[in-house]
Amino acid sequence: MTKQLEQKIAQLDKNRIPVHVAMIMDGNGRWAKSKGFVRSDGHAEGVSTVHRVTKLSSDLGIKYLTLYAFSTENWNRPQDEVDTLMYLIGWAIERELPELLANNVKINLLGEIERIPEEPRQKLFYARNATAHCTGLQLNMCLSYSSRWEITDVVKKLATLAAQGKINPEEITEDTVADQLTTAGIPDPDLLIRTGGEFRISNYLLWQIAYSELYFTPALWPDFSDEDYLDALIDFQNRERRFGMTSDQVHANN
Ligand code: FPP
Repeated sequence: MTKQLEQKIAQLDKNRIPVHVAMIMDGNGRWAKSKGFVRSDGHAEGVSTVHRVTKLSSDLGIKYLTLYAFSTENWNRPQDEVDTLMYLIGWAIERELPELLANNVKINLLGEIERIPEEPRQKLFYARNATAHCTGLQLNMCLSYSSRWEITDVVKKLATLAAQGKINPEEITEDTVADQLTTAGIPDPDLLIRTGGEFRISNYLLWQIAYSELYFTPALWPDFSDEDYLDALIDFQNRERRFGMTSDQVHANN
């Protein structure tokens, strides 16, 4: 561990570690291009960042880490890039499984997983089953995921239940909706980090991030270092989360 990283970890308030961190891993393509490589090399390098970020999250006692690994819209990328990403996801999960188990990390899959090709899908299912008993960090991998797909799916489910007379539309609450999302049972992200310098949400966890703190960094995903992650966590800890209340109310409640 570098001295700088040690100092940043010491700066963290261990009692205010976010429970749930979500990440948009952007910038792999630009990273590769800047080095004269093909885009897929950036995704391959990005797997190392996934490894580091998972380990650090686990070490810091973060309970949920949610990664946007492949969006619904990513299916529209050139076929060779899609194929490489699918291969990489299967390869990475298989390679990482022993260490995930050693670190008590539980794998969870969010999205239209049935659209993932058979081979990586089976590797993902295998990892999910093998880590089902783990009680440490829960790593939520969003694959073929988009928020509008997810919310549309919830509307369909609730409309069907209402048409069958199983629920009364008048009694639908925010909790009813949240319980039908892919993230049911998972607390909303406290912090959303986007790498790659863009200021967008890109159809990610739109319902769940209603009150998340947003953090944007110019670091491209393969370059996103442990120090960069710590900077985001320190920044998060310096913010006042008011959830629609006044600052005075927040202080009175603490
Ligand atoms: C966005 O960068 C990144 C992706 C679409 C894929 C992210 C995938 C990985 C990091 C590798 C596999 C993941 C796991 C969980 C094993 P971009 O291609 O849009 O970059 P650009 O904006 O520079 O073009």
